[in-house]
Amino acid sequence: MHKFDDKVARILLNVLSHTIERLSLDPPTLDNSRTVDFFNENAKCLICEEGNPIETVFNQYKSVLEESIVSIDSPRFLSFIPVAPTKASMIFDLVVSAGSLNGTSWQEASGAVWAENQVIRWIADLADFPEEAGGCFISGGTLGNLSALVVAREFYRRSHSSNNKRLAIVCSDQAHSSVKSTASVMDCEIIVVPTAQNRQLNSQSILKELNKSNKYKDYAIFAVVATAGTTNLGIVDDLESLSRYAEQTDTWLHVDAAYGGAGLLSPKVRHLYDGIEKADSFIVDPHKWLFAPLDCAAVIYRDKSLAAEVHAQKAGYLDVLHQDEEGNNPSDYAFHLSRRARGLPLWFSLSVYGVASYREAIEHSLDMARYASEKIIALPYLRLFMEPILSVVVFERNGWDWDEYKRWSTEQLKNQVCYVVPSLVDQKPVLRFAFLNPEMTTEIIDEILVSLE
Ligand SMILES: Cc1ncc(COP(=O)(O)O)c(C=O)c1O
Repeated sequence: MHKFDDKVARILLNVLSHTIERLSLDPPTLDNSRTVDFFNENAKCLICEEGNPIETVFNQYKSVLEESIVSIDSPRFLSFIPVAPTKASMIFDLVVSAGSLNGTSWQEASGAVWAENQVIRWIADLADFPEEAGGCFISGGTLGNLSALVVAREFYRRSHSSNNKRLAIVCSDQAHSSVKSTASVMDCEIIVVPTAQNRQLNSQSILKELNKSNKYKDYAIFAVVATAGTTNLGIVDDLESLSRYAEQTDTWLHVDAAYGGAGLLSPKVRHLYDGIEKADSFIVDPHKWLFAPLDCAAVIYRDKSLAAEVHAQKAGYLDVLHQDEEGNNPSDYAFHLSRRARGLPLWFSLSVYGVASYREAIEHSLDMARYASEKIIALPYLRLFMEPILSVVVFERNGWDWDEYKRWSTEQLKNQVCYVVPSLVDQKPVLRFAFLNPEMTTEIIDEILVSLE
């Protein structure tokens, strides 16, 4: 099992030839999920004492399992937040696996950590963060929000040690569900601020909400979470106003730019992020709009030293990792320990293709969103919900209820036209296109819009 023998060589040849086939699909097929009955009929449990010939196992993967997965990198995948990794990043992911890297510490993996830190610095520079900024790659935005807010809580506690009010986080009614989950895991209150027509959180809306109820006087607000690119609508909160509020109230400002952070690269929308440079922390998920394979998110702190004090795990067997003066340990900057060096595929791909190619790919999504919204406005059976801010377009099909949206959605996936599921805005069903895939074309958009007539 651990020797490079004939069996391993055969596995490698099978896997490589299949990988080449998968990577050369242009574009990747959409495919579909199947029922449990389908798997009961077409696949069998292969886990047994003696093992199986590799062809048996791999054939089951190729002929039954793989086709039962909706391809998130198909340009026809427009639901949730798609993932469309560059070819170089996907291929380099194989190298990261084969390298058997443990990206936990500088001592174990300085080469990998150095390269990852180059990318962390590049992202920090996009947000104009200072030199002492730093962070690490983690599995996703959810863990990034949690890790940053745990540091924010410690920042508050250090200057308010005698305060035993209930701790609270402020965010908008458009913030990602992971912010609510984080508050629940941290056993904090969450103050959800209703947003006005433009759905943007700003200092005014926070003050208005805080004045609404006396119960807030019993809360100690330790963090404001702004979103730069809300998931459902692509809203970027008013970061200038929120950074002023945070400064005046001595509150930690965390920016959840999990989806929208990539927009920092585009001069077309960079102004929307003004104020991010004053945040205390932010996250960006390269597995979203920076074309890295799952799972890859970055959490970055204005001053990484407090984060290291909060998150570095201490144990007799680990202390040696902290005596090293060189570099830093990615494990010290988030709620995790052992970790895949998941920033390396992005490092490789960025270095190969160059930043300009990334900017171009991001701007293609902005253009597609603009094209789709103009088309929607022109079609009498559709109603654009709002002008797209980034690359999310939300609209309604006149006269349809949830069931009709669902029926249409299932039919389109069955026909391999698109994977677009209904979403809810203000409790009303809508359709939502999340443009992230650089292979998206105006022809695909036209084809989908026609199917809605
Ligand atoms: C704005 C925002 N924040 C956080 C998350 C959570 O990220 P992840 O799914 O990587 O945990 C998402 C996911 O879509 C998101 O859009």
